[in-house]
Amino acid sequence: MPKHADNDRAHPLAGSGAAGGASGGLESRRTGALKGSVRVPGDKSISHRALMIGALAVGESVIDGLLEGEDVLSTAAALQALGAELEREAPGRWRVHGVGVGGLSEPAGVLNLGNAGTAARLLMGVVASHPFTSFFTGDASLRARPMGRVAAPLESMGAQIVPRSGCRLPLAVLGAESPLPISYRLPVPSAQVKSAILLAGLNAPGETTVIEAHPSRDHTERMLRHFGAVLSERNEADGAHAISLVGQPELSGCAVSVPGDFSSAAFALAAALLVPESAVTIENVGLNPLRTGLIETLVEMGGAIEIVNRREHAGEPVGDIRVRASALEGVEVPAERAPRMIDEYPILAVLAACGRGRTVMHGLAELRVKESDRLAGMARGLAAAGVSVTEQEDALIVEGCAGPPPGGATIPTRLDHRIAMAFLVLGMVAERPVAIDDGAPINTSFPGFVSLMIKLGAAIDGSR
Ligand code: S3P
Repeated sequence: MPKHADNDRAHPLAGSGAAGGASGGLESRRTGALKGSVRVPGDKSISHRALMIGALAVGESVIDGLLEGEDVLSTAAALQALGAELEREAPGRWRVHGVGVGGLSEPAGVLNLGNAGTAARLLMGVVASHPFTSFFTGDASLRARPMGRVAAPLESMGAQIVPRSGCRLPLAVLGAESPLPISYRLPVPSAQVKSAILLAGLNAPGETTVIEAHPSRDHTERMLRHFGAVLSERNEADGAHAISLVGQPELSGCAVSVPGDFSSAAFALAAALLVPESAVTIENVGLNPLRTGLIETLVEMGGAIEIVNRREHAGEPVGDIRVRASALEGVEVPAERAPRMIDEYPILAVLAACGRGRTVMHGLAELRVKESDRLAGMARGLAAAGVSVTEQEDALIVEGCAGPPPGGATIPTRLDHRIAMAFLVLGMVAERPVAIDDGAPINTSFPGFVSLMIKLGAAIDGSR
């Protein structure tokens, strides 16, 4: 059962033993080279979508490689509360008995999505076009995150959203009796908002269109096609990208193989680049081009990264990443690249701190509304570890130490898994150890992170 649940809930998957992993404070310190081949857990974005779209399909879907982190278990529990049946057959192997598009039923309790923003926003979309009322809540981090960005388009499709102040959770979604298809231009680049609208559009007659200025991750589009939905895409005169979905399709249950999460692989990749003489292979990683902006950036910085064994699973590109320790140079990371690497800035900031010269990351305003304010969190944490850093409204400037940063700090993780993992990587190369106050958030996306890094040769222990 997710350990972050801070209000009562009977988790239907309690006892599955699936999430497990780091808890309490953790500390990492310098060691010798990292070596070996590893696989990281399944992609979080794809796992959420496989469960949700499987639940809306007719018949059974079998999902392999599902991420069994707390965020995805929250989605599984919510879908069960909404009337779908899910069985965990083996580690990572789940069977979903779908109810068909529009076939979900009113949940008897509150849907508690824990720390999972993707689960909350996508499921708000799913239930917005079902004629019943659902109540949503989450942990302190999720309850602080803005939901107006999904509420606005869902209300124009006929749903009513009743939130607390600032359009935050807890909130109620009164689903539309007769959902309307809409055409909607995203005011912020967000795959979660795009996906919420497309998932609501599944149960609306006619064509639902989402227009985005900069393409964001397209896992929903790929997964819907994999289950048999018809989507079309076109470029607008102003260069924006429009995606249209024909509503009320018959989705057919199918097999899904979830690749390893690139955003989790990024931490092992970064550690291997930074720890001298390392050589690591991360196998079976999802390489969707709308996720891999970090590779482009690291290659520009001088990182020795090679992709081999390219293939495709469930409509997603997959491959193995080979990485060798490299001397990194500072770069300018353009704002237009942000949607393709939005979750990788915490670890990029650590990489930049260990490189030579200045790295400037532009277009980071969205980082302020992630699991924590990551822009402030990275700036404060790096400064505490002796790195020279400037935080701007939507940019971060890091002066590389051209070698091991001083370290010697304890970083508050503020319920943010990526802040936790980024600073543990910093401790693997810093002169003095780096501690985090709470390792538990790592279980939301990367159960087994500590043991995987130790297997490669890293030194990580409980800090108290
Ligand atoms: C996600 C989209 C991104 C990303 C998040 C996962 C998704 O959020 O940061 O970790 O699975 O759709 P935004 O849509 O807010 O950019």
